[in-house]
Amino acid sequence: MAARIKPLVAGNWKMNGLTAARKEVVALAMKLDGKKKPACEILLCPPATLIAAAREVARGSKIAIGGQDCHAKASGAHTGDISAEMLKDAGATYVIVGHSERRADHNETDAIVKAKAEAAHRAGLTAIVCVGETEAERDAGKTLTIIKSQLKGSLPDAATAKMTVVAYEPVWAIGTGRTPTADDVAKVHGAIRKALETRFGSEGAKMRILYGGSVKPSNAVELMAVPNVNGALVGGASLRAGDFWGIISTYC
Ligand code: PGA
Repeated sequence: MAARIKPLVAGNWKMNGLTAARKEVVALAMKLDGKKKPACEILLCPPATLIAAAREVARGSKIAIGGQDCHAKASGAHTGDISAEMLKDAGATYVIVGHSERRADHNETDAIVKAKAEAAHRAGLTAIVCVGETEAERDAGKTLTIIKSQLKGSLPDAATAKMTVVAYEPVWAIGTGRTPTADDVAKVHGAIRKALETRFGSEGAKMRILYGGSVKPSNAVELMAVPNVNGALVGGASLRAGDFWGIISTYC
């Protein structure tokens, strides 16, 4: 039997959070303090402006801090961009790449996402590589084809289980309150696992596959019970420590 994969529960704050939001990190750290050995890893990805502050208040806690995007290059004339090295320097250990909002708003292709994941690895960050189909693609029965091609194009060839996490986020489920059925999630995560094993062998068997899209305390138990779901990528419900804790406590 395959070794148990330690789940990862990651919060993506997106473009939300001013300095005052540090109190949510403090509240989360306090809740975690009461848990001796959490059975999962906990990650918060605040906006880049809060990474250093979040790292500071989370110091000594079991909360890791991550970025939401990075540039493929380490430095240079790229106004407004942030490199993986800069995220690492600010205290991040993870970075999300290829989120569907970045793919849509910034025309990020699979090749760009792959270059960003490689940059994350170069800087020593674990890359959370997002994939997911749109509603139209789903309705056309193309979900698995789309996911497989995004995985093929977005994952670096040298990806390892330690440095790479895949997040399956159906675009139509993000921020909508809608989620796929447990059966649908099982089908997609099963296909992702197969693709990872075929390409990366034993590393692919150990790689974490997160589900994301309208995860809430009320559906977290059902989603976590699905085979090959090794954690969650949580948007809206990660903004308040209380809601996020409601999800974390079902996984840990
Ligand atoms: P949501 O977002 O939980 O608000 O649906 C998830 C995500 O986009 O990562």
